[in-house]
Amino acid sequence: MTLAEQFTALDNLLYSTRQYWQCTAFDYDELPWSSLSAPLEQLSDSDVAELDSDQDALYAFFSSHIEGVEQLPYLSTLSVAQVARTDYPFWISNGIKGRKFEQLQDFVGSLGEQAQPVLEWCAGKGHLGRMIAFNHAPSVHSIELQTHLCEQGQHSAQQQGLAVKFSQADVLTDDVSDYFEPQQHAVALHACGALHQHFMQLASKAKTQQISLSPCCYHLFTDDKYEAMSEQAKRSQLSLRHRDLKLALQETVTAPSRVAKVRKTEVEWRLGFDAMRKDITGSTTYISVPSVNKAVFSDSFEAFCAWAADKKAIKIPQGIDYQYFLLKGQMRKKVTERIELVRHVFRRAIEVWLVLDRALYLQQQGYQVTVNTFCEKQLTPRNILIKARLPK
Ligand SMILES: C[S@@+](CC[C@H](N)C(=O)[O-])C[C@H]1O[C@@H](n2cnc3c(N)ncnc32)[C@H](O)[C@@H]1O
Repeated sequence: MTLAEQFTALDNLLYSTRQYWQCTAFDYDELPWSSLSAPLEQLSDSDVAELDSDQDALYAFFSSHIEGVEQLPYLSTLSVAQVARTDYPFWISNGIKGRKFEQLQDFVGSLGEQAQPVLEWCAGKGHLGRMIAFNHAPSVHSIELQTHLCEQGQHSAQQQGLAVKFSQADVLTDDVSDYFEPQQHAVALHACGALHQHFMQLASKAKTQQISLSPCCYHLFTDDKYEAMSEQAKRSQLSLRHRDLKLALQETVTAPSRVAKVRKTEVEWRLGFDAMRKDITGSTTYISVPSVNKAVFSDSFEAFCAWAADKKAIKIPQGIDYQYFLLKGQMRKKVTERIELVRHVFRRAIEVWLVLDRALYLQQQGYQVTVNTFCEKQLTPRNILIKARLPK
């Protein structure tokens, strides 16, 4: 299957199933799909949590209930990149946390031979750039917004005798097009949203010979309405918004149990207060209350409601039945979690759709493009690598 064929198949499937994922869970008091009520109500809270942490089990569970889901494993699984992990001396990994270092090792290992000068986009402290320089790239030019990160990165590279040069720039507002050259390998690891889109546009305009990127946070620095990059995606009937783009990032991260417990209370109380607010004001839509120090959730539901009512300029009537609304919050949380579970069936498919939009864009600029995963999901769920090369 070509990338374009994969995109078209995924696009059709996501369009025909959009009622299951293009929604906001908090908007509903009840499950919005009658055909899924029976299977979802059978699930205990721990069944929900278990399914949510296992994408294959999620596909298997919903395959018999939602038409098309059985095709998702095939359409949204990417092949694994050939990774040749290099060993690095201990001083290279100083200051890089364990999983991040393994992630970087795999990313560098999947780039292949470093024969060209490298441009490192949105480099942070330039850990990646230093590892690429250590792996024999002739030179690395690292671009980063934050001055202190540039200084720290430059300092480490100098101390370690590595050929890395930093430039401080805001890549969205400064003219950075001159940093790109034809004889170059332009690399971007986890540059968010418009940062990596701009990178692809500038690199392909400069006819940079090799482009490698792992995208993340697709919604950041962009308009709410998604603007497709490739011709195929521009013709799609799907209309994506930030809410949908964020769904692509919702892989389960197992939070420590204390954090998970506070989060559970927080969701129940927020939904309970929302039910109370609707009752008092007659409103029917969900309105969020600002985020707050988590310590609030070790106090009482009543105190939380008083704080939230103040934020929303609502007067809570005397003698209100807090227990009733707390129970409503707990019931709505169950509904919310089950709606989210259904949406999560499609999270990787949406990410792959977005990645293929980028890959097809680069193809249209004349590049030969591959799309693979470069590391285990446990190291980072943002593990997709797009590699593009101009034919010689
Ligand atoms: C998620 S970090 C990735 C860092 C590094 N590439 C890595 O994977 O470890 C994104 C980096 O982009 C930088 N950044 C954000 N906005 C930027 C901008 N407008 N111009 C240049 N860099 C920017 C941030 O300061 C941050 O260091």
